[in-house]
Amino acid sequence: MFAALVWSLSLVMFAACDVQRRKSDAELGLNPQQIAGRKIYDSYCDRCHEPYSTRGKKGPGLQGVFKHQYLSLSGLPANDERVTDIIRVGRNAMPGYSQTLSQQDTQDLLAYMHTL
Ligand code: HEC
Repeated sequence: MFAALVWSLSLVMFAACDVQRRKSDAELGLNPQQIAGRKIYDSYCDRCHEPYSTRGKKGPGLQGVFKHQYLSLSGLPANDERVTDIIRVGRNAMPGYSQTLSQQDTQDLLAYMHTL
């Protein structure tokens, strides 16, 4: 009885881990530029934006951010120009990154965000 309980509990925990498990760059099929962009995303964006969910954290989830015509929250066009502006200047509770990220960093970041 106890063994069965432990077994089913470990199954539940395994299943929960599986959902949360972070995919490797290779599993996601990222190229070198996208991998560089993912590092930047993880350092600067991840704490407020879920990359693989539309669920909100401090900011909206960015899954599929470039797959739609308009950004979910602001309703701005979902293109490189507008998103670059948001990253550089910030928006309401989001800080701007023009002092932190180089033009190359921003391009790498966008390349990764196009894979979301
Ligand atoms: C401190 C939390 C925070 C951080 C860090 C942050 N953001 Fe944001 N972001 C927000 C919030 C809050 C909004 C919503 C702004 C608004 O009111 O329109 C937002 C909006 C956005 C939007 C527009 C979403 C929409 O649907 O309109 C994009 C794109 C975005 N952020 C990308 C990024 C990227 C890329 C980074 C990393 C360089 C980043 N954010 C870092 C909080 C953050």
